[in-house]
Formats: sequence, structure tokens, C-alpha cells
Amino acid sequence: MLNQTPPPGTNGDAPGAKRPPSNLTRERVLDIEHFTDKLFRLRTTRSPTLRFQSGQFVMIGLEVGGRPLLRAYSVASAHYDDHLDFFSIKVPDGPLTSHLQHIAPGDELLVGSKPTGTLLLGNLLPGRRLYLLATGTGFAPFASILRDPETWERFETVIAVEGCREAAELAFADQTVRDVLEHELLGEMAAGKLLFYPTATREAYRFQGRITDLIRSGRMMRDLGVPDLDPNEDRVMICGSPAMLAELKTMLGASGFVEGSSATPGAFVIERAFVER
Ligand code: A2P
Repeated sequence: MLNQTPPPGTNGDAPGAKRPPSNLTRERVLDIEHFTDKLFRLRTTRSPTLRFQSGQFVMIGLEVGGRPLLRAYSVASAHYDDHLDFFSIKVPDGPLTSHLQHIAPGDELLVGSKPTGTLLLGNLLPGRRLYLLATGTGFAPFASILRDPETWERFETVIAVEGCREAAELAFADQTVRDVLEHELLGEMAAGKLLFYPTATREAYRFQGRITDLIRSGRMMRDLGVPDLDPNEDRVMICGSPAMLAELKTMLGASGFVEGSSATPGAFVIERAFVER
């Protein structure tokens, strides 16, 4: 159904322009950064009506064949930024990403107006250390969470972990961590509290291996100089490969970690919105 009154901040009211469905706004692409032949970051304008919490996702997409084609994407920018960032894979025959990977500054992107998701600080009980465990584009929501001052107020230590096949794929996470540490205000809050553990699974790198194996063996904690995982002190957010989510959920459950939700905060949260991709 088409909305006859376009929401403010969209260009749906330009003469002759087609209006997006009522739950979408049309944003403009401001900037694209390609990290590898498989990964890129997309920056768009942000409707002033869009409010979201760090860690949430929205539906984004393009009109393909005259119809909106949408997928869930975590917002990677901060809740206070006036732009939106998204971190995407490029799948050559992917229904959306085969088109999205060719998007250029000035192009239009459809953005949903109903952010949602489970990777919220409020879904976690108070704790000392926050682990952000991601593979691939699963790091996107953590780029938002790392830019939220509340994260640094709530936790003594924040451990950002990104697992990818190849070292070049770690660039987005690496850039995010550097941005946070160099940021005038966040940098001060994060100094001495932010630990970064980028790991590659299919080539030689400073840290190597799957996140699951590195936790199970205790190698990650030894490398970082932090205690073993403790459900009384550690809080965990997980986003990425479905196989990793399933394995980590079992591992954490066996160690006494209880999954949190907006109804009942817990010791860990998982984002399952992307498991179909
Ligand atoms: P691996 O190279 O050993 O398969 P993908 O590109 O397939 O989405 O994978 C992204 C990253 O997630 C890769 O480094 C991959 O490691 C890793 N991965 C895949 N399955 C698991 C799992 N069950 N536990 C932890 N990491 C995983």
C-alpha cells in the first residue's frame, strides 16, 4: 500500500516522484568505501524522524523490478550521527547485494522506519567486561555500540572480537576501533578499556583461528590478559555466522550464561535476524 503523505525528510513529495511505502524513507547515498571485493560500507542521509538504539537493525533496500527489495541490516553508525552507515557483503548473484554493490553517491536507498533487534545494552545485566563477538559483517552493530558513550559508562573493559577468513576483511572493524580511540570524547572514555582481537581463519595473521576455538582453549583470554569467562562478571553480544551463533550459545549455556531479552536482561544476547542471508 502506498502512503499518500510522505514522511518528512524524504523526497517523496518531489513533483512526479514515486512515493515509497509508508514504512520506508528514501535516503541518498553519501559515500561508499570498498574494503575488499566482498565487503563495503555504505553511508546515507538519515531521516530526522528515524530514531534507533545502538545495536539495532533496519530493513534497507532498492527498488528492483518496480518493487522494494529489502533485507535486514544493522546500523553501524552512532545513534547521534546525522548519517547512517551500513556494512555489507557482495554476493554476485544475491537478490539485493548484486545490485547494492554497484550503488554510488547520489543514488537512492530505501530505509525502513522501524528499527529493532536484541543486541541492546539494556538486554544485559550489569557486568565488568563486555565481549562483542562477530564474524564478517556481524561487526556492524558493534560499530554502533562502540560509539555509544553508555557502553563506556557501563563496562570497565570492552573486548571487540572480529573473525574473518582473510586479514583484509578485518579492515572495517580495524577502522572502527581506530575511529573510536581517536575520537575526541569517545577516545578518552575508551582509553585503556577497549581491547581489540581481530582473528583470521584462513591465512597467517597476528591472531588466528575461529572465535569459538579461541574461547574454548582459553587462548583469547590469555592473549588479552583477561580472566576466563565468568557469568557473574562477563557479558557477551554475538552477531555473525549462524554456525558460530549456535556453537557459542551452547558453549555459554554450558558455562552458566543465561540469554537476555528485553523482558529479562541476561548475561548474553544473540542477533538472529541475519541467519537467513
Ligand atoms: P572458517 O574460515 O574456519 O570457516 P563465512 O565467510 O563463511 O561467513 O565465515 C566468516 C568467519 O566465520 C570465518 O572466519 C569462519 O571460519 C568463521 N566461522 C564459521 N563457522 C564458525 C563457527 N561455527 N564458529 C566460529 N567461527 C566460525
